[in-house]
Amino acid sequence: NVTVPFYDQPHPAGVATAPQRYTVYMTFDLAATALTQDLQVLLARWTAGIAQLMQGESIGAVEPDRPDAVATDTGEAEGLGPASLTVTVGLGPGIFTDAYGLADKRPALLQDLPRIPGDQLQEEFTGGDLSLQACADDPQVAYHAIRDLARMVTGTAHTRWAVMGFGRASAGPGQQTPRNLLGFKDGTRNITEAADYDRFVWLGEDAGWMSGGTYQVVRKIMMTIETWDFDRISDQQQIFGRTKLEGAPLTGQAEFDTPDFAATTAEGDPVIDPTSHIALAAHENNDGVKILRRSYNFTDGMNPEGLLDAGLLFISYQNDPENFVTLQQKLGRFDLLNEYIRHVGSAIFAVPPAPRTGGYIGQALF
Ligand code: HEM
Repeated sequence: NVTVPFYDQPHPAGVATAPQRYTVYMTFDLAATALTQDLQVLLARWTAGIAQLMQGESIGAVEPDRPDAVATDTGEAEGLGPASLTVTVGLGPGIFTDAYGLADKRPALLQDLPRIPGDQLQEEFTGGDLSLQACADDPQVAYHAIRDLARMVTGTAHTRWAVMGFGRASAGPGQQTPRNLLGFKDGTRNITEAADYDRFVWLGEDAGWMSGGTYQVVRKIMMTIETWDFDRISDQQQIFGRTKLEGAPLTGQAEFDTPDFAATTAEGDPVIDPTSHIALAAHENNDGVKILRRSYNFTDGMNPEGLLDAGLLFISYQNDPENFVTLQQKLGRFDLLNEYIRHVGSAIFAVPPAPRTGGYIGQALF
């Protein structure tokens, strides 16, 4: 039952933190009546609340002294401890406007994502002015954090969409690579080295108040699971360019063997299909560009057709959102995987640097 540090860190918690097992992710829209000061107060209250929650503490009385008082903390995480909880706050493009006097504070690269080929986005899973990514090793701890932080928005904002992720689909150093719902290991080749974090994830000194922070891209991706489950294994492996059990590239034996995208069969065909997921996404084939993936498997139960309603809550962190866009423009057009997935939700947020003790997230804005 581990506590992750929150204040006075070089970077926000929940990004480079070894992926916890569960996430609850929620977005919010500011109310039309919200003033700059309301946003400021909300961020300050969220920061104080998150600090306590990450310590495994309640955010106030579960049983207030006065019997006619309403509880500040809803109570369902009592006794569960910190469970490695992190809560990562995101600021959407919509708050950096003249309405809040924040137009000139807009992070240089924060704008709504363009339409990307293959997108089938639904309004109800897209966008948001604010976001909270709660990750923990106990699902009830993550849920409690979001629930109690969502209670604090009263009047200032309202909830927009949420996803409950039940299993991590990315790996950190020392963690075994988990699997996504298509049964393949996910996160084998991800960012792990400090030098890559500095180069591809964290914003540098030139980013002003955002330096040390990053940009978060979220995609709600549905999977047509029943169809996938009847696809023959050779086709599944061709789609990813990897074997299913071991997760080895089709040109290698072991999971962490480096894929050889130039290798050909005796007939002269590429061993790893050029339109396989890894061939299209690998840094070798994208001018060296990498993104940090920190995704979670999720399910919404069943859809109206009686099919499993599940997929991947894809979350990536990068210091240039264009790196995601360029990759996804390619994947959206050519990826063999597209037959079995559908991007239905999308959002982008700026993730400010970690707060200082006594300060709050986004304080430099006001
Ligand atoms: C690699 C699954 C969506 C970017 C992989 C791998 C799997 C996988 C199994 C191979 C193991 C690994 O290296 O992690 C999926 C599934 C997706 C999905 C099931 C959707 C439901 C995306 C999206 C992007 C992306 C939307 C970015 C736009 C990457 C990258 C790699 C990768 C950069 C590493 C490629 C390499 O260097 O070999 N993905 N992915 N994936 N994926 Fe995805």
